[in-house]
Amino acid sequence: MLKKYICAFFAFLICLFFFNNNILSAEVRNNMSKKQTAGRDLLGDIAPKFAELNDDVLFGEVWSREDKLSARDRSMITISALFSAGLYPQLKAHLEIGKKHGITREEAVEIVTQLAFYCGWPKAWSTFPLIREVYGNDKSESANVSTDKFFELAKKRYSVRKFSDKPIEKEKLNRVLEAGNLAPTAKNQQPHRIYVIQSEKSLAKLKELTHCGYGAKTVLLFTYNTDETWKNPLEEGINSGVEDVSIVATHIMFEATELGLSTCWCNYFPNSKLEETFNIPKNEKSVLIMPIGYADENSNPSLLHTKKKELYQIVKYL
Ligand SMILES: Cc1cc2nc3c(=O)[nH]c(=O)nc-3n(C[C@H](O)[C@H](O)[C@H](O)COP(=O)(O)O)c2cc1C
Repeated sequence: MLKKYICAFFAFLICLFFFNNNILSAEVRNNMSKKQTAGRDLLGDIAPKFAELNDDVLFGEVWSREDKLSARDRSMITISALFSAGLYPQLKAHLEIGKKHGITREEAVEIVTQLAFYCGWPKAWSTFPLIREVYGNDKSESANVSTDKFFELAKKRYSVRKFSDKPIEKEKLNRVLEAGNLAPTAKNQQPHRIYVIQSEKSLAKLKELTHCGYGAKTVLLFTYNTDETWKNPLEEGINSGVEDVSIVATHIMFEATELGLSTCWCNYFPNSKLEETFNIPKNEKSVLIMPIGYADENSNPSLLHTKKKELYQIVKYL
């Protein structure tokens, strides 16, 4: 009797396994098969079978097998094939699909540069304008991030080296300082200190030491308290002071930009002399000064502002 129950229990488990497996594979299939109607939309009237194969088999089944090969890789291969065959209208469509699958503008350019050697230089000449059409001319625009608000802000900011006499409103100054206070610091120890240099006397003293006030009526001096920094127990001599101050100052720099103010990050000053001049406590180290205010109407970004290395020169994937 007991034997009968045990057999029935195992039979039940086996059925459950197959049942679940079927549900699972149906779910996976459903998730993978994406509805594609481009074939039917564009060619359904003249070539209905071709349209059906295009939408249901090529895109519905083959492209959807992302567990075998990612959509991004499939896009790269397809772009290469169309480039090689010189099929530019289809190539443009697949550059657009590739962008949706996460291929960045830099990567698209790199793919074409590489293919130029294997498939033909003139083909690259025909393809770069297509990349420009698909991604726009903006270097920083990459897949799915074209409306990124932070990018807009980051692009708007530049180092201003000529300030107008218009003073910053107190509310705006408080707001940027609050933005600094939102910054992370190592173990939240907040070793940073900010000195607001605004009086005529202090501005004059600063001018004696450096030209980097650039005529601003407000200059922030950032220091960190050496007793309060986080010390790395795994590495002698490493502390978080400069990092903490830098993140705080960066918050302030971008909030200033957001509020229509301008800044310049400056470290060109004699640190010890400046600390002495402003009676900075002995356990604090100065990191930067930041003139902040309204830019002079003739202020323009310097030539260095647009000189950026390519990502591949900076980022290494390990
Ligand atoms: C750590 C650091 C130190 C800097 N020191 C100075 C400085 O002493 N004087 C100055 O005019 N600009 C200084 N700058 C501004 C850079 O020259 C500027 O950010 C860079 O040339 C890029 O230009 P942009 O800020 O207009 O994009 C400094 C920037 C950083 C990040």
